Amino acid sequence: MDYLSITGPSRLGGEISIAGAKNAALPLMAATLLCDAPVVINNIPDVADIRTLLKLFDKLGSKFLFEDHTLTIDNEAVNNTTATYDIVKTMRASILVLGPLLARFGRCEVSLPGGCAIGQRPIDLHLKALEQMGAIIEIKNGYVVATAPEGLQGTRIIFDKITVTGSENIIMAAALAKGKSELINVAKEPEVVQLCEVLHAAGVEIEGIGGDELIIHGTDREPVCFEEFSIIPDRIEAGTYLCAAAITYSSVTLNHVRPDHLDAVTAKLHEAGCRVESDENTMTLYPAARLKAFEISTTEYPGFPTDMQAQFMALATQAEGVSIIEERLFENRFMHVSELQRLGASIHLKGHTATLNGPIQLLGADVMATDLRASSALVLGGLAASGVTNVHRIYHLDRGYEALHEKLKCLGAKIERLKE
Ligand code: UD1
Repeated sequence: MDYLSITGPSRLGGEISIAGAKNAALPLMAATLLCDAPVVINNIPDVADIRTLLKLFDKLGSKFLFEDHTLTIDNEAVNNTTATYDIVKTMRASILVLGPLLARFGRCEVSLPGGCAIGQRPIDLHLKALEQMGAIIEIKNGYVVATAPEGLQGTRIIFDKITVTGSENIIMAAALAKGKSELINVAKEPEVVQLCEVLHAAGVEIEGIGGDELIIHGTDREPVCFEEFSIIPDRIEAGTYLCAAAITYSSVTLNHVRPDHLDAVTAKLHEAGCRVESDENTMTLYPAARLKAFEISTTEYPGFPTDMQAQFMALATQAEGVSIIEERLFENRFMHVSELQRLGASIHLKGHTATLNGPIQLLGADVMATDLRASSALVLGGLAASGVTNVHRIYHLDRGYEALHEKLKCLGAKIERLKE
């Protein structure tokens, strides 16, 4: 197993390019199941979660080539509709094949994802919506067994809560359903929007793209035909490097970004005293004279993303005054707190709210990554801390950050990837 060894405090500088968004690539790869001809997707990040989904595609019978961030995938020969436990347990987002498999083949079996480090994360809303579309759903031996022998039927669905992968699953199911689906209270994350745009370009009539109400005119099981396309830049990777610049009082430029997808993050960086200058696809962070305390409450897009909460907690350790961070989406997304405390952070946790006093001179220590975004917060802490911070269990980071240590090294960080 590998770990990262960071010698801080670091001063960064220069520019890096941001990869394609993992959370956009996963549903769009799943959407290729709606098609029976080859599809070419560019700018796919080379991260572990993508490799995991490809493993699942291999088991389903897909033919594909993934090279230089381009995936060419042909799902004509798919002859298996089971997503097995061994794959789903390593990546919950495997649930994204449920909607498209059921819509195209009229049946599928997907292992129930089970619990997760950051919270319960049920999939009840995915299942309820599919039932409303006429699917018969049973839970057998830990699997969701879904059937729709006559195909899915378009209908009106109101999501009780905003769910990103839930919206994506039902959008894909609706694309091949019979008749019109009206989806109300749909997630508006840029990744959901790109899924709609690509399906629209593939011939599925979708009204209301970008809003929280969609009308989707299904093809009645007629496979769709995708044009070649590119995955949008990863807003969470970009936000993480903006925090890396901010926490080290450095100036860093990001290329291949969509600044408009990062408005809530940029607003908080301004509140902390940093300046961010952007043009169409680059962003430069200019550091604060002194970082100032800020308040954050995570919520759905376009609000402040839960996937940036941990990184801003690391930043708050260096900000002068009392910062307050409220986590509203996941009940257990504070696993990084005790690890940041090992670096010396002053954090008081009560319920869903963390209160931080800063600035604190962090001191290097051994820390343990617990989930994907928590891990990046520990790397940020290590950049700011004096001495050596070793971040263990970085397989969590590998799930979503491509070449993290190479990118940070290129910005001037003293960081090594070593074997335990
Ligand atoms: C996606 C992202 C993840 C991000 C999250 C919130 C992917 C692959 N993952 O996860 O990085 O942190 O959105 O922005 O895109 N819920 C239910 N029932 C359901 C579904 C969700 O109660 O059937 C709840 C969840 O427990 C959570 C909230 O709704 O409290 C939002 O979760 P959701 O948007 O579904 O997260 P994911 O799609 O799993």
